[in-house]
Amino acid sequence: MSPPETQVSPSAPTSPPPPPRQVAAGLGPAGLPAASGPAVLSARGLSVYYGSTLALRDISIDIPKNRITALIGPSGCGKSTLLRCFNRMNDLIPSARMSGEITFDGRDIAAPSVDPVALRRRIGMVFQKPNPFPKSIYQNVAWGARINGYRGDMNDLVERSLRRAALWDEVKSKLHRSGLELSGGQQQRLCIARTLAVEPEVILMDEPCSALDPISTARVEDLMDDLKADYTIVIVTHNMQQARRVSDMTACLMLDEGSGGNGHRTGVIAEFSPTHRLFTNPVDPRTEAYITGRIG
Ligand SMILES: Nc1ncnc2c1ncn2[C@@H]1O[C@H](COP(=O)(O)OP(=O)(O)O)[C@@H](O)[C@H]1O
Ligand SMILES: [Mg+2]
Repeated sequence: MSPPETQVSPSAPTSPPPPPRQVAAGLGPAGLPAASGPAVLSARGLSVYYGSTLALRDISIDIPKNRITALIGPSGCGKSTLLRCFNRMNDLIPSARMSGEITFDGRDIAAPSVDPVALRRRIGMVFQKPNPFPKSIYQNVAWGARINGYRGDMNDLVERSLRRAALWDEVKSKLHRSGLELSGGQQQRLCIARTLAVEPEVILMDEPCSALDPISTARVEDLMDDLKADYTIVIVTHNMQQARRVSDMTACLMLDEGSGGNGHRTGVIAEFSPTHRLFTNPVDPRTEAYITGRIG
């Protein structure tokens, strides 16, 4: 479904990618509990520093294809940091430094042949606060595709993307009005349409509903469920009910005291399990404490 220009890098070797890590039921690679299906993104031994402060330590996780994976955990435990590592958005933070490895379709995303801009086309992102451009609804959706040299029928792409984002019926009569005139929930679906128009494979969502009312939230959740047939979604949410409702897999991150002895706490994955199991029968006592509201 990706046009050629969405490949990671035109200069990347033309050898076929290694077969996807098969993530079977039970324990996956690195002994992690896993969902069925191939992993599209995998982190191994990922640690992230901001300056000299360790924010995330030794993260290993497999994100299954065509599933929704939720990242939960207390504020400051590194959920957004992990999300931003997946499409190298953390490269844009000068103090951020990463060790360990992330692979996308089996290839190291930090390899010199990988163009981070091209990577971000394949791994799109939706933010907490809807951020439409101060342009028309139409231009908001067409923009990314246009700068990527989309040569198909733009009207058709805009309509398809807005339909896919469950917004078309609400905006079809006012495509040339400003995106900023829409309600918050509509703006967030517009941002999702804008992301879809670039035809990504993975969509990273950082608390996409936290600025929305319950009705808009329900619409976005329904939309996510619909999108997972064609996309892999990773969502950060502080709303545990939302994680339970929408996700197939959940990673619960925690703040660990660490070994530095300086009182600084570092984010780690306490548990990564099928969502139902994590919420009904958590393995890690810290997960249980968090989901029952005793910590966090
Ligand atoms: N741009 C940044 N510069 C320095 N420290 C940061 C930056 N972004 C996040 N951090 C720190 O990294 C840790 C994890 O933050 P974050 O990933 O935003 O957590 P969460 O999304 O779980 O609330 C926090 O201690 C935070 O202060
Ligand atoms: Mg965050």
